[in-house]
Amino acid sequence: MLKIGIINGPNLNMLGKRDQKIYGNLTLEEINRKIKSFAEKEGIELIIMQSNFEGEIIKFIQQNASRLNGLVINPAAYTHYSYVIADALRDCSIPVVEVHLSNIFSREDFRGKSVTASACIGQIAGFGYQSYILAIHALQDFLKKGSSEINK
Ligand code: DQA
Repeated sequence: MLKIGIINGPNLNMLGKRDQKIYGNLTLEEINRKIKSFAEKEGIELIIMQSNFEGEIIKFIQQNASRLNGLVINPAAYTHYSYVIADALRDCSIPVVEVHLSNIFSREDFRGKSVTASACIGQIAGFGYQSYILAIHALQDFLKKGSSEINK
């Protein structure tokens, strides 16, 4: 059984109350329920966390990577400047997919830059909660085929 960690960064605990035009009206709990139900059908176990603190996110990556097959991370605003999270992702040596609910490239200029995506096998942005499901699916495929066959 695949085990995948889902990491949510700062302010994502406020989904449902944050700008609904950008982030939709689902709460993080509702999103988690949807992705858990997708994962269950696929026979994937999810370990889900959210934190507003950089150090806690790094601790989670360091303490859990060895028991996980892959990670999905929405680093939220840390995406745009956290070299420490980028390093932790690089060091964890399991495949990581970066996700965003919104299309970060169609918003303010600073959001169009991700310092964490280069530590990931890929990035999915702009599909609301579906971004997480697409990321889990991509990871599943990557883990099955291995990096050399990802385009086949
Ligand atoms: C976000 C995009 C980030 O720019 C922003 O700071 C967030 C959420 C997204 O999921 O669209 O908090 O990561």
